[in-house]
Amino acid sequence: MIDPFIPLLLLSPSPRVVNVSSLLGKIKLVSNEWAIKTLSDGVGLTAEKVDEVLNEFLKDFKEGLLKEKGWPTNIAAYRVSKAAMNAHTRILAQKYSSICVNCICPGYTKTDITCNTGPLTPQDAAEGPILLALLPEDGPSGQFFYQKNILTTF
Ligand SMILES: NC(=O)c1ccc[n+]([C@@H]2O[C@H](COP(=O)([O-])OP(=O)(O)OC[C@H]3O[C@@H](n4cnc5c(N)ncnc54)[C@H](OP(=O)(O)O)[C@@H]3O)[C@@H](O)[C@H]2O)c1
Repeated sequence: MIDPFIPLLLLSPSPRVVNVSSLLGKIKLVSNEWAIKTLSDGVGLTAEKVDEVLNEFLKDFKEGLLKEKGWPTNIAAYRVSKAAMNAHTRILAQKYSSICVNCICPGYTKTDITCNTGPLTPQDAAEGPILLALLPEDGPSGQFFYQKNILTTF
């Protein structure tokens, strides 16, 4: 979705992208060694490689091989899709130095997805994403935030 917006974003004096992610997408929780290695790659990571990981995941899912191939088995699609989005965040940050592009886990929040459980209200959880949308000119990019703090490992 970001790709078609890039030309518009580049017209802005302060373009920002905020990808709402989750701690569940942290790469170490993916557990498939090949996927971890591919998504952890720094300069060598490309959108094509991220797609390759997703296609392999989908193939193994359809063949019922998630456990056997070392993918997460609990809310697997959610975890892998967030890990892919985190990787895309880093790719975009490297490619577009004028855009602050970051991802953020808002924290465990009372919304539909959690059946209204969790300690945070949607108002609390929105503070982090809003902070990232309003980052100053020399703000961080390509980072993973948990609420308002940068986590050093994705
Ligand atoms: N709540 C948490 O504890 C928590 C923790 C970590 C990360 N997050 C992340 O925070 C983000 C917001 O989640 P939430 O907690 O606000 O969950 P939510 O209350 O379930 O809201 C999800 C929203 O996504 C929309 N949506 C779902 N599938 C869509 C699709 N295919 N196309 C367009 N819109 C779609 C839904 O639209 P409809 O209302 O029309 O269905 C809904 O507005 C998500 O990315 C979630 O992964 C949440």
